[in-house]
Amino acid sequence: MKSLMIQGAKILATGSAVPSSSFSNNEISKVVDTSDAWITTRTGIKERRLLKGVDKSIIDLAVLASKKALDKILMDPSQIDLIILATSSPNDLFGSASKIQYEIGAINAVAFDLTAACSGFVLSLVTASQFLQTGVYRNILIVGADVLSKWVDWSDRGTCILFGDAAGAAILQSCSSIDNSILGFQLNSDGNYSKHLSIAYEHNIVPHSELNLYQGSFKHISMNGKEVYKFAVFQVPLSILKCLNSLNMSVDQVDWLVLHQANERILTAIAEKLSISSNKVIANLHKYGNTSAASIPLALDEAIQDNKISHNDIVVIAGFGAGLTWGTIIIRW
Ligand code: COA
Repeated sequence: MKSLMIQGAKILATGSAVPSSSFSNNEISKVVDTSDAWITTRTGIKERRLLKGVDKSIIDLAVLASKKALDKILMDPSQIDLIILATSSPNDLFGSASKIQYEIGAINAVAFDLTAACSGFVLSLVTASQFLQTGVYRNILIVGADVLSKWVDWSDRGTCILFGDAAGAAILQSCSSIDNSILGFQLNSDGNYSKHLSIAYEHNIVPHSELNLYQGSFKHISMNGKEVYKFAVFQVPLSILKCLNSLNMSVDQVDWLVLHQANERILTAIAEKLSISSNKVIANLHKYGNTSAASIPLALDEAIQDNKISHNDIVVIAGFGAGLTWGTIIIRW
């Protein structure tokens, strides 16, 4: 993918936030017919965090993650030009990004939501880098946040065991093209398979039949686990290889693989297909489950805090999920 690059873009800081309340596999087995052994073997997940309390929303997590990222570089929020919130669980269908903008005091920023489920953070990163590399904006805050605990069917053991709530943030800044660290990306969608993972809208006719209008509400998450599994293991390695090829890079040059944290078996299968050592795979899903748009920035933030990722490392980030949408972005850290 060729882009008009006037200047470079780099990630300055990351931050993340998870609810304090954890929910183990043993606890979930009191809600649905499952067991720690089944969940651990099939997914690698041991526990997840759930946002509890009627007054708590995605905004609380997103604001906390954003403030942590800002604090790390002592950036005044007024310096932010754009905020992109990747989420599929806003607390307002018109968008939640502007609430983050208000709460962190980013008085000069424009803010909007981006909906691409578990690929949302990758798409936000690509969108932000375009605004920076074309010279439009200088500082951009991107946040991946989801509270899918509010959207799972807590009687469906095939899905409720998988998801957790979290937020992760990154601050990007423009720089000279020589220092550009967002090296390339590769993005895809296939709506033909959207039925395999969705939160569908269910409508009923409005009482005044002369209006011939339908209104309704969203249902719970529905998923064909086997199809989603096959899709991820087949398509994600292809996307990563295409992206590496477009940059004339080889798999051997990859220092870290940061995949959407959906399932440990998916992470292992993708790494094996690419012949990337498991030592290079960043994984924290045993603690948080699948946190959708938050999973990649949460994993990145923890890896940075653990001093795993060093200056100049090649980090391959790939997201995949509902849409179906999937894609890769390659960064020189
Ligand atoms: N506990 C115990 N048994 C369960 C269960 C649970 N939580 N969920 C399903 N089962 C049962 C099924 O009822 C089925 O029983 P049956 O054989 O008697 O009919 C059996 O386990 C196998 O179910 P199946 O759905 O075929 O399991 P699976 O091996 O495909 O594993 C997933 C299920 C969800 C773990 C797996 O398909 C998966 O991870 N898919 C990808 C999902 C994903 O990552 N989605 C998000 C992408 S962004």
